Amino acid sequence: MSKIEVVFKELLTCLQTAKMYGPLHPMFQKSLDKAYAVFEDVFNERQEVVIGIIGEELAFEKEIFFDLGKLLRSAILYLKERNIERLAFYRGLSKEELGKFIGIISGPKEDFKNDPQQLLDLAGIENINIGKLKVVDRKDKGASEAGQPNLYDFSMDKVAQVVSSVLNLEKIDPRTLKLSLSNIIDSLSVQRQELLKLATVKRYDAEVYVHMLNVAIFSMYFSSRLGFEKNDVMDIGVAALFHDIGKMYISRKTLHKPDKLSEQEFDRIKSHTVLGGEFMFKYIESLGILPVVVSFEHHLKYNMSGYPRLPLLRKQHTISSIVAICDVYDALSQRRGYKQDYSPDVVYNIMNKERGSSFDPELLDKFFQFMGLWPVGSVVALNDASIAIVREENESDIRRPKIEVVSPEDKKRLVDLIQDNSLSIERYLNPWKEGKEYLRFA
Ligand SMILES: [Fe+2]
Ligand SMILES: [Fe+2]
Repeated sequence: MSKIEVVFKELLTCLQTAKMYGPLHPMFQKSLDKAYAVFEDVFNERQEVVIGIIGEELAFEKEIFFDLGKLLRSAILYLKERNIERLAFYRGLSKEELGKFIGIISGPKEDFKNDPQQLLDLAGIENINIGKLKVVDRKDKGASEAGQPNLYDFSMDKVAQVVSSVLNLEKIDPRTLKLSLSNIIDSLSVQRQELLKLATVKRYDAEVYVHMLNVAIFSMYFSSRLGFEKNDVMDIGVAALFHDIGKMYISRKTLHKPDKLSEQEFDRIKSHTVLGGEFMFKYIESLGILPVVVSFEHHLKYNMSGYPRLPLLRKQHTISSIVAICDVYDALSQRRGYKQDYSPDVVYNIMNKERGSSFDPELLDKFFQFMGLWPVGSVVALNDASIAIVREENESDIRRPKIEVVSPEDKKRLVDLIQDNSLSIERYLNPWKEGKEYLRFA
């Protein structure tokens, strides 16, 4: 067990005794002595100890303590109920401060409704900092009504931070990145619909980050449904996130040119694979080899006809095939100024034309089986002229999901199209045009 794990364990023991005996009891003093000794030991080596909780995991620097997280789930829940997701202890911490701190957090959760740090400030504790994980303020970005950024925006901020430090050739923080991806994975199992909806509907701010995060979300969702383990899913997410990083070497003018590209310009764009692979090579130590492979291979195609042209033909790595499907899916569905956005059925048809050539046929079938033809959150018109929102895909028939009729007023209800054969989806309503007024239901 690492020293940090010991610190956390001792803290919890201390908290337990405080709750059982109260902070004045000798038993509490004994466990406080022990916890403080562990801290002193750690502060001989480092200035601060910062522990973060995201989703259901506990994290410290580059590590995520998945196993410890499982073991200490109730402790994590306890802290989260008190609005504590981040605990920072600084060198200089006194035993008195630690004791006061434990006394405060052993109190009822109602005390923590507001900013928990205030409680520490009031008690004069200077060397401990607690609260929510920091979220970067993005003025242009949608915080939800409650003023809390939603998970998509939160992840977007984290991802944007990491990506922009990569773009600035700074050192990256793999912990932050993996934590936000880990958070997405946790939510995928709990609020899958919610997150996929954001990824499929949230296209109005068509920035480069949106594409990166969407491809990462789709790839993680897809690979977890395929049965990959959580750690692998996270690595796949990282690789997917950086698949197009080589494009930073290519001018925006060329990338977004509305007219036909010259052969030279097209060659330039194709080079983003090789450039990306080379670039991610610098991050092998922190992010592993997968981002190199995926950046390099994601346009290689299933039948090996894509680019970069290789002297020796070789098959695409399975993860590259997964990312390639999600990449094209997002690129085709995304609204872009210079290109018409396609409705989901058209995307489905376009991609299926490439089944067996660009895309691994088995993987492609699975992808649409998991995603549905009409993605969750789509606004659709039915054969009886009513309007509905797609709520959940049905794997047995991708054309007949579970839907919620939202208009007209007297027809409002939930319908499983597998059960009700009289109804069917006629067409997709573009969420920026005729579907706009129904988006509030999505
Ligand atoms: Fe690409
Ligand atoms: Fe891409």
